[in-house]
Amino acid sequence: MSRKVTRRQFLSTLEAIGAAAALQPVSWALAAEESVEKATPRKVEKLTAAPTITIAHCCDPQLGFGNDADPETAYQNDLGKLAREIENLNKIKPDVVFFAGDMTHQVREIERDWPRMLPKIEAPIIVAPGNHDVPEPVTQGKLDAFCKVFKKEYDSVAINGWKIITINSQYCRPTDSVALYDTQVSWFQKELESAKEEGLRVIVGSHIPPFVKTLDEKDEYFNFPTNLRKTYLDYLVANGTLFYLAGHTHTTLERDYLGIPILNGETTSRNFDSRPYGFRLLKIDADLNYEWNFVAND
Ligand SMILES: [Fe+2]
Repeated sequence: MSRKVTRRQFLSTLEAIGAAAALQPVSWALAAEESVEKATPRKVEKLTAAPTITIAHCCDPQLGFGNDADPETAYQNDLGKLAREIENLNKIKPDVVFFAGDMTHQVREIERDWPRMLPKIEAPIIVAPGNHDVPEPVTQGKLDAFCKVFKKEYDSVAINGWKIITINSQYCRPTDSVALYDTQVSWFQKELESAKEEGLRVIVGSHIPPFVKTLDEKDEYFNFPTNLRKTYLDYLVANGTLFYLAGHTHTTLERDYLGIPILNGETTSRNFDSRPYGFRLLKIDADLNYEWNFVAND
């Protein structure tokens, strides 16, 4: 990232979390490579040691997006699938439930059922807003509507030596709300860098994934802009990030960056790859062995 661009140019082309990192005189790529030399996660079918953390990774409940020609029927079907998901969550009792955004399909319906559904979930909940929850461009009014139901647009929680940090990836898209954007960037930097200082292992979650299939793929609806993508990921890895959890794609995907898994799980609204409805349970042991197994919505 050139230092010669004006602030306005910078914001219009690089509206995203971690952007400030791109301006720092540090080789994040080199720092990331040095960081991953230490250890990277290894997927197993079944852990042989007790997990240090168990996370339910729930993607796109998106009430009203399900497959039915009648919008109200689709909404009610999705609500029923969410209720079954909550039953499963309460049986499994994960340490934390991460919703990777798109809580509703029509933002005007965000308050329709979530205020009574959220308290049914017994585990701590952390939610990253989706593009259907805070449609672009980000404005204070849209954030207020989201936070009225879900409390925070970005958040973090520390559990057993891990820190889960969720961000509002809608700042990937152009916005004139510069102050809001700057506030999240500085918050995010502090969260990541303090996690590193404290020796916490980090999991980052957002609605939009950094990329869908390959790091060098073109900009599109489903990914972070290319002018940010690599620096953002290097910055995360250099600061102790070991997993990236996302939603948005409505397909189940496993890829990695420098050995760091980037995971997208099944939804309970609509899966474009015909996967069944449900969520993923991420369990990680102290040696970074992990399970990321499917929990069917039945
Ligand atoms: Fe979605």
